[in-house]
Amino acid sequence: MKIRGERVIITPMKLKDVYSMMDWGKHDNPLFFDYNLPPLTHEEIREWYSYKTGRSNKKYYSVFNKDHRLIGYMGIKRIRRLWKDAVLGIVFDPNYINQGYGTETITTYLEYYFNEMKMRTMYLEVAKFNKRAIKCYSKSGFYIVEKYLDLFFDQKIDRTNEYFLQENSSFEIVEGKIYNYIYKMKIDRKAYKI
Ligand SMILES: CC(C)(COP(=O)(O)OP(=O)(O)OC[C@H]1O[C@@H](n2cnc3c(N)ncnc32)[C@H](O)[C@@H]1OP(=O)(O)O)[C@@H](O)C(=O)NCCC(=O)NCCS
Repeated sequence: MKIRGERVIITPMKLKDVYSMMDWGKHDNPLFFDYNLPPLTHEEIREWYSYKTGRSNKKYYSVFNKDHRLIGYMGIKRIRRLWKDAVLGIVFDPNYINQGYGTETITTYLEYYFNEMKMRTMYLEVAKFNKRAIKCYSKSGFYIVEKYLDLFFDQKIDRTNEYFLQENSSFEIVEGKIYNYIYKMKIDRKAYKI
């Protein structure tokens, strides 16, 4: 099964794709370190792959460009077939971000999601500091429906770091713990067709 866009091909994720991800670039902004895949052993790669693909309430895909290079992966999780909704996740190789691939992947997949899978609504959660992702999602038709605080993944981050200071308004320190604002975003079939 292949879902084709103008410059991207989306296919169900295979184990060998996870091995290719080990060669991806790295984010140098500490706010994005959670998206840097650490070096994994064969066993950890297998575990990660089965965690992503082994359940029926998730679907994970690899994204290739026209040169057959693995440039990202995406998935839908928490699929609720009765409600016809799910939650999007998407991560690209840092070497291929900011080139329009994310937006094209999402809009291509939404077409399939609404028209072939007959789903009704897609949600996602994104950190307020992640301006690039928010722009990409807004361009794809998502809009913000909720804002809440969540514990930041790195409690030991250097708070004098320039990236942290720049995004100061995205963080709150509560009783010594670092929290960051999350936006919940949504798109539904009706709005998508307009
Ligand atoms: C989020 C992600 C999938 C988006 O894909 P992408 O291919 O980089 O996005 P696109 O190039 O299609 O769109 C990005 C847009 O954000 C804009 N942008 C980039 N940095 C920005 C910033 N700091 N502030 C505002 N806008 C910014 C770009 O200019 C572009 O908009 P434009 O096309 O109107 O110029 C990708 O960047 C990624 O994998 N990031 C790391 C992991 C991640 O954050 N995942 C999402 C978790 S919710």
